[in-house]
Amino acid sequence: METKVLNTTAQHIDTAAEILKSGGLVAIPTETVYGLAANALNAQAVKNIFVAKGRAQDNPLIVHVTSIDEIKPLVTEIPEKVYMLAEKFWPGPLTMIMKKSDLVPGEVTCGMDTVAIRVPSHKVARDIISRSGLPLAAPSANISGGVSPTTAQHCIDDLTGRVDAIVDGGSCDVGLESTVILMCNPTPRLLRPGFITKEQIESVIGKIDVDDAILNPLKDGVKPSSPGMKYKHYSPNAKVVILEGDDKAYCDYVNQHADEGVFALCFDEDAKQLKVPCICYGEHKDEKTQAAKLFSALRSMDEKGAKLVFARMPKADGVGLAVVNRLLRAAAFQVINL
Ligand code: TXA
Ligand code: MG
Repeated sequence: METKVLNTTAQHIDTAAEILKSGGLVAIPTETVYGLAANALNAQAVKNIFVAKGRAQDNPLIVHVTSIDEIKPLVTEIPEKVYMLAEKFWPGPLTMIMKKSDLVPGEVTCGMDTVAIRVPSHKVARDIISRSGLPLAAPSANISGGVSPTTAQHCIDDLTGRVDAIVDGGSCDVGLESTVILMCNPTPRLLRPGFITKEQIESVIGKIDVDDAILNPLKDGVKPSSPGMKYKHYSPNAKVVILEGDDKAYCDYVNQHADEGVFALCFDEDAKQLKVPCICYGEHKDEKTQAAKLFSALRSMDEKGAKLVFARMPKADGVGLAVVNRLLRAAAFQVINL
């Protein structure tokens, strides 16, 4: 299949919308990461997303719309707390899971009776949804198991020949996937941390539960709240080991292990003290920049031929919880306490 690379002119947005209307697949920019979009109401188009990504058949997709009004036909009811969070955080990087209506094909939800919905804030994503007039199912636009794409080039690297088009909207501001919260329990449950933090959510709707799988590997025999939790994620070719310790302990350990192929995935301040090639992902106390840079940093380790990467453990506060969650998965939960 030929993959068109489109820009964000009105004419190209129309082309993207036409491809979606006729059942095709288009990678689109959002404020979090690029998404691989298809008409959420077209079961065959949705199936093709799973094929293009090599995605497991039981890992459901997020449906993207431009306003809360467009959600009504997709769910059986909208809980009051959804309105409260929508008022504060939509459009934006928050995904809410509700009971699905019959309109949503089982292909989107992988047979589950709930559907994940997000109202993105990115102008290009919104224009494409509006021009197509469709709810768009879209997982991250990467090959499953790899690192989520934060630039059009990442999508081109992963999906050329597998999708109809890629819309180049520059790099994604947030850089990590949306916060995912299950809203059909009496106490809502955080399933994936993101830019909208637990503290921000609790300031609007009160106490929420936090799923154990956010910071821990899933235990054998335990059914995950979100199917995505059980799959390998963000795994670069290089082996990643996270080092937990202060500046000095981190730099000393890396310098003592400065063999061929060893790289540091570190904070900006660490680089001058290290004797190995460094890929920096933001300043020590700047979790938002760490979030924005992490996925590009993970991809560039492989491009530079890193074999073993010692990563600096970020703080798990605020947006940092999302950074730690993604880095733990990239490292397959390998952490050394210094
Ligand atoms: O920021 C984002 O969320 C991006 C952009 C494109 O919107 N999308 C994204 O999609 O990250 P994906 O497919 O990579 O992650 C969706 C996650 C998966 O872990 C999936 O298992 C979970 O949401 N999920 C989707 N529907 C669900 C449901 N009904 N119940 C529980 N988990 C669900
Ligand atoms: Mg993904």
